[in-house]
Amino acid sequence: MTDSIPALQATRLYAAYHQHPVLEDITLTLPQGQWTAIIGPNGAGKSSLLNLVIGSLSPLRGELRILGDSPAAQRRAGNIAYMAQHENMEWDFPISVRETVLTGRYGLMREDPLWQRLLPRHWANPSHRQAAEAALEAVDMADHATRPIGELSGGQKKRVMLARALAQKAKILLLDEPLAGVDPPSEALILATLERERSNGHTVIMVTHDMPSARRHADNVLLINRTLIGMGSPGEMLSDTMLARLAVGTPDARHGGVRVAA
Ligand SMILES: Nc1ncnc2c1ncn2[C@@H]1O[C@H](COP(=O)(O)OP(=O)(O)OP(=O)(O)O)[C@@H](O)[C@H]1O
Ligand SMILES: [Mg+2]
Repeated sequence: MTDSIPALQATRLYAAYHQHPVLEDITLTLPQGQWTAIIGPNGAGKSSLLNLVIGSLSPLRGELRILGDSPAAQRRAGNIAYMAQHENMEWDFPISVRETVLTGRYGLMREDPLWQRLLPRHWANPSHRQAAEAALEAVDMADHATRPIGELSGGQKKRVMLARALAQKAKILLLDEPLAGVDPPSEALILATLERERSNGHTVIMVTHDMPSARRHADNVLLINRTLIGMGSPGEMLSDTMLARLAVGTPDARHGGVRVAA
């Protein structure tokens, strides 16, 4: 697989829940190795778009290719790591922070030789534990590694879920509001970590309401309000004119709703 294959290619994509449309006529291409911020009002369909990318929501019409293949195939291949906006997790389950992050490695553990998979977890391939530790440090949660996940505060849980996505070392990192409810020092740490992911050639796709972070870090900004309002550089998209279009849901006529990231 070469880097010239787009990370994401959507063609006239429509999605609905129970026939109620939530995304309409989305056509866009995102190259690999870039950081894209997805911005739009509550209920605009941002999380639904990520659900299409991980294959948990099927398009009503149109086509979505991830790294040239179907979303489900790329998810199975471990090429997409995903951090949900609201984690459907049993927080009372007696599992430590470290074990939670290690679950991000389960797909990769399947690739280990059988003899290694049969060993007790602490003798297993050390690369998994090292990746989990590095991810915990990246979100400043290493000191909490042995605590039960259910004991943590909301912001701390969020950082652990981000660590779980980072530990997967996937080509595409999908993050649904990773900065919401996180304190400023952790936010700076997370943004620096995502910068590092991008410089290692990974694709970062982040839903956010945090415009200053998008302006400072993203290569592309995708404005979405049920349909694609616009896509381009942060300077172009986060202008007063474009944000006014976003609020009323009027696509940018100059581009005919079809955008390819530069
Ligand atoms: N599982 C579901 N069943 C039915 N409708 C849903 C479901 N999930 C989302 N919706 C609806 O789809 C629309 C888009 O929701 P979505 O969660 O994608 O918005 P969002 O842009 O992520 O919003 P927010 O900024 O609040 O997270 C909303 O009208 C929402 O009510
Ligand atoms: Mg959402």
